[in-house]
This record gives sequence, structure tokens and C-alpha cells, in this order.
Amino acid sequence: MSVFQEINAPLRTIMTPGPVEVDPRVLRAMGTPILGQFDPAFTEMMNETMEMLRQIFQTKNQWAFPIDGTSRSGIEAVMCSVIEPGDKVLIPIFGRFGHLLTEIAERNGAEVHTINCEWGKVFDQQEVIDEIKKVKPKVLAIVHGETSTGCMQPLDKIGPACRELDVLCIVDAVATIAGTEVKVDDWKLDAVIGGTQKCLSVPSGMAPITYNERIEEILVKRKKVEKGIATENDHVNVGRPIRSNYFDLSQLQDYWGARRLNHHTEATSMLYALREGVRIVLQEGLFERFQRHQLHEKALVEGIKAMGLELFNDVPWKLPMVTCVRIPDGIDGEEVRSMLLNQFGIEIASSFGPLHGKIWRIGTMGYSCRKENVLFVLSALEAALIRLGANLHVGKGLQATLDIYESMNLVAK
Ligand SMILES: Cc1ncc(COP(=O)(O)O)c(C=O)c1O
Repeated sequence: MSVFQEINAPLRTIMTPGPVEVDPRVLRAMGTPILGQFDPAFTEMMNETMEMLRQIFQTKNQWAFPIDGTSRSGIEAVMCSVIEPGDKVLIPIFGRFGHLLTEIAERNGAEVHTINCEWGKVFDQQEVIDEIKKVKPKVLAIVHGETSTGCMQPLDKIGPACRELDVLCIVDAVATIAGTEVKVDDWKLDAVIGGTQKCLSVPSGMAPITYNERIEEILVKRKKVEKGIATENDHVNVGRPIRSNYFDLSQLQDYWGARRLNHHTEATSMLYALREGVRIVLQEGLFERFQRHQLHEKALVEGIKAMGLELFNDVPWKLPMVTCVRIPDGIDGEEVRSMLLNQFGIEIASSFGPLHGKIWRIGTMGYSCRKENVLFVLSALEAALIRLGANLHVGKGLQATLDIYESMNLVAK
């Protein structure tokens, strides 16, 4: 029988669009002793987490809680609870994760309508609104921050237009939550899904979501409680029940709400992690956190450009926490990534679909979004490219980045 050694993971500098480095305080919180899921000490933590999530989503919605599973579990939970077979769903696609929304909507029996734009661009909001008027869908599902292309879709006009046209607006804010503004109430978004492993800097394994009464109305109509736990007041036979038990928001909100309906067994250690992660975000301040993401983005971008590299997403709709760099001609992008990982312990990402092999994606998210990380990734990238014979403005990148930090008075931090 083989004897396995204890885990001894290498320390990495993670500069990808997720998962990113986790604040040591979150890792410590994960070591908190396990509590029973109905222990008042634990349900109190659940309530506190909901309250803090409302602040992060900038909403007064009653419902703001995590789904257990990776970010797409939040998307699946919202979509499968809202979409009934035959419902029209409109999805504007501007990268890989728009396709994911399509895939999930189709699996739930929706009649899916899509509009597409070239990867690297986003939609003019009016174009989406015109399409909504044409298709008249029940749901518009759209990505806010597209990590595959480093682009951010403005939503401030799309959300209100959906409300006016009585269309439900479901938004994937997996990449943007806690890194830039996601104004759920002001933009009139009906359901929003966030991610843990990106700007929240919590490990992957939960997906915080929020939704309003317009969504709840649908849930109530489709609500079916498991026979083994239903009371005489619960419906056990419903016309078109939510197909998934695990992702059934009507039962999940009763688990997170005052009723504490016994559903799944909550992922205790992940809840500790999320509670600590959102606490840290609010302690820093939402506005301050968004500013920090912008500052390090600027420092990185200036360094990349001064080095002589070209940005793929040097556009007004650039996603502030993902910087996409064109791989120079004659350079093997994967060789550079391997060198960064093996020589420097730094991870950056490649991309998908039409952008595979053409760009690197560098994330500046959450706890990874720090001055020393930005300086380190720029130094390592320059060194690797020099070694592989790229034509660079040697030495200029780091100086440009240091100029930004010095002008911002960030010498020590
Ligand atoms: C914008 C966006 N949506 C959805 C997902 C899916 O998240 P997960 O892999 O955690 O299920 C990701 C993951 O990278 C993402 O970037």
C-alpha cells in the first residue's frame, strides 16, 4: 500500500482572472471548528453573511445568500428556478461566459435567442434594448464582466429598460462583484450572481446570489417541498415544479429564511470563509476597494505598454480587473506561461475560443491585487520575454509602473 505525504503545495503568485490568492484571514477562518447547521451560533453567522452580501450587492433585496457550488451553481440555481420549458430567453454573447448562459438556459428547456458581437467588443445598450423589444423574452441573461475577453458590458440602461418592458434581467457578475460597481437596485437588476474566487478572494466553492420580489413571485408559484419534510401547509404537487432539487431557490430561501427548512447540509467551512471574505471587503470599504482595483490596473497597464507590449482590451469598456495582453509575434505564449510558473512561481492565464494562443490574461483581483504582485509579474514577464528573444523596451515597464505608484504616494504599500 502506498503511503501518501501530507500536502505541501508550492506558494504561488496568482495573477489570473480566478481563482486568486486568498487573504490569510479567510484561510484562518476556514479552520474554525465545525458547528451544526441549525446551531444558533451558526445560523447567526448565516444571517450576518446575508446582511453583508446585501451591502456588497448594493441592494435592499431580502434575498442575498450563497449557493453551495462554484459560480456556475449560482447561475444554474437562478436559471433553473426561473425558466420554465418554452420560456423565451434572450442572451447577448460577447465571450465564453455568454455561451455558458446559453448552455444553461437551453438545458432548462428555454427557447433561446442570442445576439453576438466580436470577442473584444461589448454591445451598445440600445442594440440590446431594441432586440428585447423584437424578441419579447421573459428573461434577458447577460454577463457583466467577461473574463474571457477582459470586457465589461454597461448595464445601467439595459436594466431599467427590462423593468419597463416587464422582462426579467439576470446578470452574471461573477468577475465584477467586490471589484467594481455592481449596482443591483440602481440598475434595476432582478437577479445577480457573484463569484467567490475572484475579487472576493475566497476559495471557489460558493456563489453568492441576490434576487428581488419579481423573481420570488415565480418561485412561490413553482414551490414544491420535499415530501419527507413537507407540512400540511406545503404543496407537494405543483404543475411545473423547479426541476432541480439542489438548486431549487424556493426551498433554499426557506432554508436561509426564518423557517430554516431542512434542505442540504450547509458547507460550514465555506460559509466561514465567505463570512470573513465579505467582512474584509466591507472593512476596506466598497469604494476604496474599487479604487484599489483601478489603481493597480493602471499601474499594470502602464508597465505593459511602456515595455512595448500591446493590450488587447485597451478600450473604454475594459474590465478593470482583467488586463489582456497580445502575445508578440514569434513568441509561444504557453512557453512564457510555463517559464513564469516554473521559474518565478507566477500564474497568468491564456484564453479560450478565438483568442486562444493570441492573448495572455492577467488578473488583478482581490487579495492578488497588490503592488508587489504587479511589480513581480511585470519583472518576470520582461525577463521571460527577453530570454525568448522578444523585442522589448527593456527596463521601461517597471519604471513606468513605479512612476504611477510614486505619483499615487504608494511607495510603501
Ligand atoms: C464571468 C464568469 N462567469 C462564470 C464563471 C464560471 O464560474 P465557475 O468556474 O466558478 O463555475 C466564470 C469562471 O471563471 C466567469 O469568469
